[in-house]
Amino acid sequence: MRVAERIETVGHFIDGHQVPSAADRTFPAIDPSSGAEIAKVAFGEAEDVDRAAKAARRAYESGVWSKVAPGQRARILRRLADLIRDHADEIGAVESRDTGKPVAQATGEVNLGADFFTYFAGHAELPNGRTHPADDGYFVYSVREPYGVVGAISPWNYPFLLACWKTAPALAVGNSVILKMAEQSPLSTSELARLTTDAGIPPGVFNVVHGDGPSTGAALVAHPLVPKLTFTGSTITGQAILRSAADNVKSVHLELGGKTPNIIFSDADREQAIAGSLFTAFYNTGQICTSGSRLLVQKKGASDVVDAFVERARSIRVGDPADPSTQLGPLISAEQYDRVTGYIEEGRRAGAKLALGGGRPNVPVAGGYFVEPTIFVDVEPDMRIAREEIFGPVLSVMTFEDEAEALRIANDVMYGLAATVWTTDLGRAFRMAERLESGIIWTNCPHYLPVNVPYEGHKMSGLGEDLGVEALNTFTHLKTHCVNFGGATLAWA
Ligand code: NAI
Ligand code: MG
Repeated sequence: MRVAERIETVGHFIDGHQVPSAADRTFPAIDPSSGAEIAKVAFGEAEDVDRAAKAARRAYESGVWSKVAPGQRARILRRLADLIRDHADEIGAVESRDTGKPVAQATGEVNLGADFFTYFAGHAELPNGRTHPADDGYFVYSVREPYGVVGAISPWNYPFLLACWKTAPALAVGNSVILKMAEQSPLSTSELARLTTDAGIPPGVFNVVHGDGPSTGAALVAHPLVPKLTFTGSTITGQAILRSAADNVKSVHLELGGKTPNIIFSDADREQAIAGSLFTAFYNTGQICTSGSRLLVQKKGASDVVDAFVERARSIRVGDPADPSTQLGPLISAEQYDRVTGYIEEGRRAGAKLALGGGRPNVPVAGGYFVEPTIFVDVEPDMRIAREEIFGPVLSVMTFEDEAEALRIANDVMYGLAATVWTTDLGRAFRMAERLESGIIWTNCPHYLPVNVPYEGHKMSGLGEDLGVEALNTFTHLKTHCVNFGGATLAWA
């Protein structure tokens, strides 16, 4: 099914309207399975970001959203969730075309995005604030207030899902938002923008500005009317954003890269471990911050496990994202293709042994940024392929003797996002979880991350809490009010 014919020129979404760029500039949206241009998209510069920021701030100050009755805000967000579900097939088709994701997977992610609005809608009505013990005649309380305008900068690996992930909690607590989608995957967010109007979100509360990092993203980061930033993407860009945000002392929430260790102990349920490891290594063509990109196998019985794993990996179906039987699509872009194939070269040069893949798969689509599922064995922990985020279907396999060595290898990278452990020994599961330097640990269940479960990147993988009730802290700041209603006043005697 090819769907993009109806998409021609996609504008920004500012103050409730689709608008072109002030400078009338556009950039092409690309289908990564063919390299073909599928739409033209408005390219935002400082002037466009400024327009969005002013609209967002105006909406915030007017109270149309920030001061609306909590029940009304919740109802509107639930309506948005329903509308997303009603349109999931068409949005999923657009997402698949724009990102190369298999179409059923893309549609599943759209429905997951709807769940974010359903879940966070309820948070509009949760208790907020605390009272504090205070001196006689004093009443002291604190509340969490919205920041006003939240700037959200999103990557291309889960465009629609992350647009919902970032905006649902921010909106639930009364902020206005400006979303800057990745230039590789702008299309599905425009569908979301349209639905916000249909759901009843007032103009100016939800805005989208398209464009690249250095122009559009940087303008959003620098804008004085945007005091809160939430970013998902590479660690290097996260660092640049943090540096730039220092000028205005902005609050910055970062969800950055990872090099997730996926650790199989000899006592693991072998079938379960192999199936789950295969999924975490290659799902979404390895383009996930929590991809299990380092497979650590305990030496006792390791060669059997690795052989079975490689055999299983041969059967992964790479191909046309529009074909319902496809499991893996292409990488997102020509740039990412060069990066990933560069890492494959680097692995070879460093002396790792290629047990599977390494080249272009035989797919029935012309062009496109396809890479075979690739497995390197005999990898040393100090090789670049074992330390750096590749963000492609490239797995580094290492072996270890015991828990201590597994921990040493697992923790010896700059990242600390997620870790997976495969074991049937309960004591070992808890010992490992305590010692792994990472924000979330999955024992026998990689990628388990429902919306109500909070997490936070450790080390260079992030800053600030995400998901769950904790997300409300991320999108609000504290205000304390001390009232003297008859107590003593501090003064010179
Ligand atoms: P990136 O981190 O540069 O891009 C993510 C978003 O940030 C995009 O919307 C981009 O336009 C924006 N951006 C870029 N520079 C900016 C700046 N100076 N100020 C404000 N916004 C800016 O990621 P990129 O270059 O697309 O991918 C490169 C590598 O990053 C990947 O190979 C992967 O390793 C990593 N990455 C990690 C992700 C994760 O979820 N952990 C997601 C995407 C990429
Ligand atoms: Mg695209």
